[in-house]
Amino acid sequence: MLLGTTKDALKEPPGKEMTKRLRIVAIDGPAGAGKSTIAKALAVSLNIPYLDTGAMYRMVTYAALRDGIDLNNESVVADVAKSMNVVMSSDRFIVDDVDVTDIIRGPQVTEAVSTVAALSAVRSELRASQRSWVENAGGGVVEGRDIGTVVFPDATLKVFLTASPAVRAQRRVAQSGGDVVVIEEQIRQRDHLDSTRADSPLRESNDSLFIDTTELSIDAVVKQITSSVESIESNNNE
Ligand code: DC
Repeated sequence: MLLGTTKDALKEPPGKEMTKRLRIVAIDGPAGAGKSTIAKALAVSLNIPYLDTGAMYRMVTYAALRDGIDLNNESVVADVAKSMNVVMSSDRFIVDDVDVTDIIRGPQVTEAVSTVAALSAVRSELRASQRSWVENAGGGVVEGRDIGTVVFPDATLKVFLTASPAVRAQRRVAQSGGDVVVIEEQIRQRDHLDSTRADSPLRESNDSLFIDTTELSIDAVVKQITSSVESIESNNNE
């Protein structure tokens, strides 16, 4: 993935040296757990950039559908991932000069994205882009499914956010409309695909901060994570 002007991909996890220097917060968890809302607010609170890695998988899915490619053809989909030009800000996504911000959240891409996210060759390409993005940005709040387990295992703090499937479905409906029963079933299916795939499945790492957001306000979660980051950093500096 040609991200802005950068292509100096780090193929391996950056290791303790880089993560020690940079403030990196990994936020993982299933769809609808509140990751994006919390990660964006956290990035403001910690004064570091925000990276939505789910949007990267969605952009590859968009480009593969656009090109009429069979989504199970791993090497061809990976070639698309490698050659596409992407420009990302915190709220706009541009692929090959087209603003795809809305289309990547639409039903076509949402239905197909778990298939693309299960392809190892695509994951390896995107992991490298995610690492070089964070290195170039000087740190970040990075949101996804495998950020604390695989992409940044030495992040300053790893957080696993979850909430009950019913509450997650209600949040999605409040955000984008739809039938709550249908959306809950789709969420369960996507959770199943994301957590049972062979390459970097969604799972909690044993050293992450686990937060169930079912009954918590966004503000309370952001404050809890911010103070955890600050206390880790002050312990590291002692
Ligand atoms: O967070 P989201 O719903 O935009 O994610 C879209 C899809 O991409 C979802 O099926 C999980 C997958 N994904 C992933 O496998 N690894 C990531 N780091 C981020 C998202």
